[in-house]
Amino acid sequence: MRLKNKIAVVTAAGQGIGKAAALAMAREGAQVWATDVNADLLAGVADVPNVKTAALDVLDKAAITRFFSGLGCVDVLFNCAGCVHGGTLLEATDRDWQFAYDLNVRSQFWTIQAALPSMLAARSGSIINMASVAGSSKGLPNRFIYGTTKAAVVGLTKAVAADFVKEGIRCNSISPGTVDTPSLQERINSQEDPEAARRMFVARQPMGRLAQAHEIAPVVVFLASDEAAFVTGQNYAIDGGMTI
Ligand SMILES: NC(=O)c1ccc[n+]([C@@H]2O[C@H](COP(=O)([O-])OP(=O)(O)OC[C@H]3O[C@@H](n4cnc5c(N)ncnc54)[C@H](O)[C@@H]3O)[C@@H](O)[C@H]2O)c1
Repeated sequence: MRLKNKIAVVTAAGQGIGKAAALAMAREGAQVWATDVNADLLAGVADVPNVKTAALDVLDKAAITRFFSGLGCVDVLFNCAGCVHGGTLLEATDRDWQFAYDLNVRSQFWTIQAALPSMLAARSGSIINMASVAGSSKGLPNRFIYGTTKAAVVGLTKAVAADFVKEGIRCNSISPGTVDTPSLQERINSQEDPEAARRMFVARQPMGRLAQAHEIAPVVVFLASDEAAFVTGQNYAIDGGMTI
């Protein structure tokens, strides 16, 4: 029970990596708040021991403030919510740019700002932010907006880590390679030739396969736990060798 007595909040826990991480933290004894903008998706984790659910849109600052002030104490915050925009700089629109920054970056600024006071009072806390292999570690084709937002997450993470390292707060990011989640399947299905699109995603993974969400979750558990007590400001690649 590596997370016994810890209260953890996970955003975008309705499916994919957020759900897998919420379940893994609950198995390790954490009291997990699984949150998602889509309350229907949370039904899938509602009856799991140690898991409580709450609808939370990370684009809504007032809702975030309300949610965290209602919680009191938070030990672990996993900022998982994010979206992928396809295309190069030439196709990028101001609207997509703004939306991606709001969801992938500004939401983390808001949730961390809301969670930090209780962490500072306890002089302890672990924040884990979702970045991506696309961004600061690697440029991927057709991921212009996405890559810039995810690089910003790495910068945000290091800034928070540096500011609060003396107060017992740790802040790290994770950078998965391509993970077989519902949103990836949607991106594949939206292509003219979905089978070719899936082959392309697999081909860019040196291991010749996609990751499963449960293969990302153990790193979140580690960073959340006291085993990572001396780890802060780092970006963890979980990319099946994409950045060798
Ligand atoms: N799947 C991948 O290959 C991959 C790789 C690297 C990083 N990531 C990142 O991991 C994160 C999760 O991706 P995924 O593919 O596991 O999940 P997913 O896209 O399958 O699920 C996303 C979840 O986010 C929720 N969500 C969307 N907007 C929200 C909002 N405004 N507030 C709260 N929740 C919201 C959705 O309801 C959904 O449950 C994202 O930040 C993504 O960029 C994914």
